[in-house]
Amino acid sequence: MSDPRPSAAGAAPSASVDRYAAALDRAHAIALDYLASLPTRPVSRRLDPPAMTARLDAPLPETGCAPEDAIAEWFRRAEPGIVASPGPRFFGFVNGGVTPAALAGDWLAAAIDQNAFSWLNSPAAVSTEDVVLRWLKELFGLPAEWAGALTSGATMANLVGLAAARQWAAERLGFDAARDGLAGQPPIPVISTTEIHASARKALATLGLGRARVITLPAPAGGAEPLALAEELARHEGPAIVIANAAEVNSGAFDPIAAIADLCATHPAGAWLHVDAAFGLFAAASPRLRGLLSGIERADSVAADGHKWLNVPYDSGFAFVRDAAALRAAFTVDAAYLAPDSDAPWDPFTHLPEMSRRFRALAAWCALRAEGRAGYRAIVERCVDNAAAFAGWVAAEPNLTLVAPAPLNIVCFRLDPEGVVGAERDALNREAVVALQRDGRAFVSGTTWRGGAAIRAAFDNWSTTPDDVAILQDAVRDVTRRLAG
Ligand SMILES: Cc1ncc(COP(=O)(O)O)c(C=O)c1O
Repeated sequence: MSDPRPSAAGAAPSASVDRYAAALDRAHAIALDYLASLPTRPVSRRLDPPAMTARLDAPLPETGCAPEDAIAEWFRRAEPGIVASPGPRFFGFVNGGVTPAALAGDWLAAAIDQNAFSWLNSPAAVSTEDVVLRWLKELFGLPAEWAGALTSGATMANLVGLAAARQWAAERLGFDAARDGLAGQPPIPVISTTEIHASARKALATLGLGRARVITLPAPAGGAEPLALAEELARHEGPAIVIANAAEVNSGAFDPIAAIADLCATHPAGAWLHVDAAFGLFAAASPRLRGLLSGIERADSVAADGHKWLNVPYDSGFAFVRDAAALRAAFTVDAAYLAPDSDAPWDPFTHLPEMSRRFRALAAWCALRAEGRAGYRAIVERCVDNAAAFAGWVAAEPNLTLVAPAPLNIVCFRLDPEGVVGAERDALNREAVVALQRDGRAFVSGTTWRGGAAIRAAFDNWSTTPDDVAILQDAVRDVTRRLAG
């Protein structure tokens, strides 16, 4: 199709729907081919940065092209560098896939391009976000009256929860943290365990609470030990912030949230309990697994991800906060041109760092509407069953060791042939991760567990079947045989 675009500085190009149609048709065709290839395409080709850059790097084009040609050109150039992470054989990190309803919702969100910062700017977007937050609270058994916000992920959700915590603690100490900052004020202790996720540290760094100032108690069995926490809390006269894990990213271990909530409730100056539940919160969708989160409804704030186990596209997370006043005080703004609609029940930009923002709620609304409570229970239980099957296989396989119990959806293991120890075993495991990623049948990622290199497989994709788990096992067995004899 010829490009009807006028030359530079000419009249505005036509916004005729035909121009959109041609571009969207091309994107649709490419997307369907890609989605159809997911069950069989190599998950990863591990394209090295120079090779990838060479495919895309070019000077800014002087002249334009038809929109459909732009999208086709990008796909042609970038395709070898696309990792099939929404597919059923991607077990790296904790990624999750995309349900059909979520994908359709996300596409529509881009097409209608709502700015979801305020009720006035988009009643539809803010009202949808309100409903999605309520549905999520129902799915997870969290109190309906808690405030919340949809964020870009769990890192931002941790930041939102911890910003409210900082505001609350500062108020108890007699100052307004958001307004006046922390300089010259009494310190606010933050207590967690050695298993605290890097994103919570990042949030603490951003909030001026200090990435390295967090007091990390040992968690030799994976979860926090209440006695150690009680002793630590007793050392602090003022208000404290406690960060609990549900669940830990390498092992899926849960802190005992009910016991921690008891300790926070009895700390004389008060203790705010923030739970990083990026993926573990989904255990609440299953009656079978809910006990792992016992007491979470007594937390003060909870952070979780949408792009992991909710299986909505990147980027998506959510934060829930009991004390709406602390949350709003943390993110309040003073800008006359943004004056809220006096009838609006709330505006998202008063609940999180962003102002203008994407209409994330639509993908989540469509996903929750299409799956319902039963659908999410089934997704979670299927993933946990797949993880248990894989963990059982690892435990029985020669030359492999399960390095931690797998209570949820993460299986942490290592190649552990007899007589191979220390640095040699670490090197072997790092080599195995690269070999598996290059192999392309199934993607796993590497980590360090209790000082030794290990391998993680995370199960949180709605479309993974036992056949995919069998392919993962074949790949791990082949690489183990090749590298460990
Ligand atoms: C426990 C935990 N918290 C926080 C995060 C950060 O989430 P995101 O990358 O979505 O910001 C992750 C990511 O894996 C996680 O596992």
